[in-house]
Amino acid sequence: MIYYLLKGLHLLAMGAWLGASITSPLEILRTLSRGRPYVDLIPEQVARADKVLIPAALLTLLTGLGLMQTTQGFITAPWRFWAGFGLTLGLLLLAKLGLEPTKKRLVLAVQGPGEAAALGALRGRFIGLVTAWHVGFVIILVLMVYPF
Ligand code: HEM
Repeated sequence: MIYYLLKGLHLLAMGAWLGASITSPLEILRTLSRGRPYVDLIPEQVARADKVLIPAALLTLLTGLGLMQTTQGFITAPWRFWAGFGLTLGLLLLAKLGLEPTKKRLVLAVQGPGEAAALGALRGRFIGLVTAWHVGFVIILVLMVYPF
């Protein structure tokens, strides 16, 4: 019973995390392309997305740990779940140390009298980080599903 509850929550949280991780960057890029004054909306859009992203990420991590313990136990759990755990922490770090500051710098660059080249570079960095994040997510998904 506990197992099915944890697994259901794990899949729901994972789906919500992935969904918001796709829609939020697309919304930010769309708003950025509209320029001023629309870019002033970005902090609000980021805050709204964070209300889903942060709890969903934490719930995915916690239910994952719960599943590991209820299925095989931490010590004997297959390596792929530990690898998934490490990569999930990596995604959280990428979001905190890479994506978050880049979004802030993007908003400042659009609001100020910045050069188009600098803005283009920041936008490219944002797209690169989002892509790296999704590559990491797909790797975790494969590790979770395929019984290596
Ligand atoms: C981006 C993060 C994650 C995604 C996308 C994800 C996805 C999934 C999926 C789709 C399954 C079902 C696999 C199946 O039934 O074939 C699963 C199961 C599982 N996940 Fe995750 N997971 C994530 C993070 C984690 C973390 C961080 C842990 C552990 C700390 C974890 C531990 C587990 C365990 C132990 C199972 C297997 C449950 C069973 O034996 O039925 N997951 N995960």
